[in-house]
Amino acid sequence: MARLEERCTVDIYESASAIPAAELTARLADKQALMCLLTDRVDGAVLDAGPGLRVVANIAVGFDNIDLAAARARGIIVTNTPDVLTEATADFTWGLILSAARRIAEGERLLRRGAWAGWALDFMLGSDLRGKQLGIVGLGRIGRAVAARAGAFGMRVAYAALDAGAAAPGGADAAWNRLSLDELLSSSDVVTLHVPLTPATRHLVDRRALLRMKRRAYLVNTSRGPVVDEGALAWALRQGLIAGAALDVYEQEPRVHPDLVGLENVVLAPHLGSATVETRTAMADLAARNVLAVLAGDAPLTPVTA
Ligand code: DGY
Repeated sequence: MARLEERCTVDIYESASAIPAAELTARLADKQALMCLLTDRVDGAVLDAGPGLRVVANIAVGFDNIDLAAARARGIIVTNTPDVLTEATADFTWGLILSAARRIAEGERLLRRGAWAGWALDFMLGSDLRGKQLGIVGLGRIGRAVAARAGAFGMRVAYAALDAGAAAPGGADAAWNRLSLDELLSSSDVVTLHVPLTPATRHLVDRRALLRMKRRAYLVNTSRGPVVDEGALAWALRQGLIAGAALDVYEQEPRVHPDLVGLENVVLAPHLGSATVETRTAMADLAARNVLAVLAGDAPLTPVTA
């Protein structure tokens, strides 16, 4: 805010919940820049409400909330916040992997409801990660950072890159094994999703994909909710077709599929992947610097080019 207020007049929407569309369009009428969140849908109608708009700076690396074609057609630059959240999100992904495989959240719930009868040899057994295969779907920045941590847990890495032209990892990472998505699903002990939400990735993990997974495998999603068909996942978890899952993102946030909420073998986090003070500050700062660059007539630091 300080950075912006030095050079701009700032109109800030203060509420903790997402700005209603009508209010967003009303307040855009006299603005040159919009800094927005992944909860704000920015489509052609919203962009038309700001005839002076030059830049939309999303405070997120994902930008599926913005109609890029509509922005391009109006000559409006769109920016996101890559890199600054990679490590925090990768750390959180490992938190979810451990929580699911070692039943941490489930155990905490049990203890808090007073159901712990004491230590027992066969009580709440989870799964070792060591010696198992971590399957990464989408080898972008975050997928790579998650893979880079696998050695610390003794896991070998396989990945499926949906982009056929994706460069193979080099150096020490050359040992990562590239597989087709089907091969990865059927051979991995943990499958973790790191793809953007596009028409091609919507419900990438559906009933068919879940049926391919090992019965002792875990599914982790810190990408975007609609990449997983939540109804199909709840069915697979209930049927014991996979051992468990851990989700940070949902199809209709903040709503979580009611069938998931009742299941013990799924960890449910409220979209916290990048939620550290340091990372969220860096994301907001990068978005502000993008705004200031464009308003000054300079190139944005991190434009969305896809
Ligand atoms: C993003 O940046 O896209 C995350 O979902 C929030 O950090």
